[in-house]
Amino acid sequence: MYKNNYSWQQLNEHSEFIKPLHLRELFQKYRQNYQQNFCLQHNGLILDFGKQRITAKTLQLLRNFADQMQIQTWIQKMLNGEKINHTEHRAVGHIKLRAGNNAPPEVKNVLRRMENFADQIHNATWKGHSGKAIKNIVSLGIGGSDLGTRMVVIALSALHLPQVKLHFVSNVDSADLVKKLTSLNPETTLFIVESKTFTTQETMRNAESAKAWILNFFHEKSKNFSGNLVENENEIVKKHFVAVSTNIEATQKFGIPPENVFEFWDWVGGRFSLWSAIGLPILLAVGKKHFADFLAGANDMDEHFIHSDLDKNLPLTLALLSVWNTNFLNAPSFAVFPYSQSLTRFPRYLQQLEMESNGKTVDRNAQIVDFATSPIVWGTAGTNGQHSYFQLLHQGGQIVASDFICVKKSDFPEFITDSKNKNSQHLQQHQNILLANCLAQSAALAFGQTADEAKKYGISDDLLAYRTFKGNQPSTTLILPELTPFVLGQLLALYEHKVFCLGVLWNLNSFDQWGVELGKHLAGKILPFFKDKNNTKNDEVFNNLDSSTQLLLDSLLKC
Ligand code: F6P
Repeated sequence: MYKNNYSWQQLNEHSEFIKPLHLRELFQKYRQNYQQNFCLQHNGLILDFGKQRITAKTLQLLRNFADQMQIQTWIQKMLNGEKINHTEHRAVGHIKLRAGNNAPPEVKNVLRRMENFADQIHNATWKGHSGKAIKNIVSLGIGGSDLGTRMVVIALSALHLPQVKLHFVSNVDSADLVKKLTSLNPETTLFIVESKTFTTQETMRNAESAKAWILNFFHEKSKNFSGNLVENENEIVKKHFVAVSTNIEATQKFGIPPENVFEFWDWVGGRFSLWSAIGLPILLAVGKKHFADFLAGANDMDEHFIHSDLDKNLPLTLALLSVWNTNFLNAPSFAVFPYSQSLTRFPRYLQQLEMESNGKTVDRNAQIVDFATSPIVWGTAGTNGQHSYFQLLHQGGQIVASDFICVKKSDFPEFITDSKNKNSQHLQQHQNILLANCLAQSAALAFGQTADEAKKYGISDDLLAYRTFKGNQPSTTLILPELTPFVLGQLLALYEHKVFCLGVLWNLNSFDQWGVELGKHLAGKILPFFKDKNNTKNDEVFNNLDSSTQLLLDSLLKC
């Protein structure tokens, strides 16, 4: 609770008025000037938040709160390059990566090198060690060095170039890598090792095993003719590995020569890094023009975010609604439902973006906050979720705030509009059904169904209680015109800035992630036992483990 924050106090009082109101009543009495008050538009995007449990006054109070928390000042601090990631003494500069002509020279330089590399892959002038063109590219990365890039590559599958196929491996479970490798030919495969630090255990393990796979293949192959294998190793790695990292020294140690390394900088946070060279797989999948459009879309949202007034600002509005639902309506979770198969990985990307950024309880003054911060983020692409967990949303009794994202046009429009395509009429029906379901779900969640209504629909008395839906679940709906690279760029930057705003509103540093360190540290202590299976007895580290972990470890070592 912000005890000395006047706006927060006012919101608190106001929430006592809102809580007993049902969305039905809010729509009857508090939805004047609907379009003006409960809908925002920006360059093709439409954000409808009328189904949130708010009135125009709620929005006003929330915007006052943003003002009191000095949102504009914090935006300026970020733009000025101040080290607002204070616990790591770093600036937060991902906006600069998509600034087009205004981007810093080093950003433009790396982008040019990425494009040049992509050209060589696409026109097959980059050859593998045995002289064959590269057909498959495997991105090895995890977290921010995987989730965003992978999501975008999948989202833009309608635009994939035929020359290369992109693959992703992130898990340290060898099943992830092995399943991939067994379907690939080493001679035509190239790996991109994506890691900001180049020390992440999962990525480095996968990279080492991938390197061994490539080298072993060429060693075996060379047995048929004479050649100095040891000397060749560097040459082989050079043809089959590139890296994206801030740690140039480590990439070299791994054996990747500097000309194969695409660098980025410590002012790019991992989960905000897909606009940097970390996005290389996107460029390879869809080509220069589409990658430039993707960056331009994000830049368009940056401009909107930086220059719009508080009452017109889409990212800020999403953040304020999140504060309202989390802190004043006590909704513990937030679900995102993209009604688009292409956005199927968007919820996973958003999980890291929101929860790694704002899943914190220590504020910028090193004080423990006494209010809820990031909700648990979850969701899947619609309509699939409707046939699994939507039952709980409709009748489970918990408040779940959600964002519905729908895309007006299908991503494969040529299949639908091509008159020669005999299936086009059938395919159009898919899009119609998808959109109808999206609208139906948010309306059903908002308004529910009373017993009287159920009766009118002919439900028998003994089933009335079961066929009644409480409704009153708050949601926002975002309409995207179509899933172009530009629109996708707008979408991701929209949520990035929402996360930034939430950090300001909750007074958190959204750009560090100390919480993930403890587990890494403990894994480092436990790993040696698996390497040397006999050393648990009388071992000091083992004896200091809790008895549960000791038992589990012993059981696993006996396997
Ligand atoms: O999960 C912790 C984390 O540091 C993330 O923030 C980051 O995106 C991920 O690990 C991968 O890190 P790196 O790019 O350094 O391999």
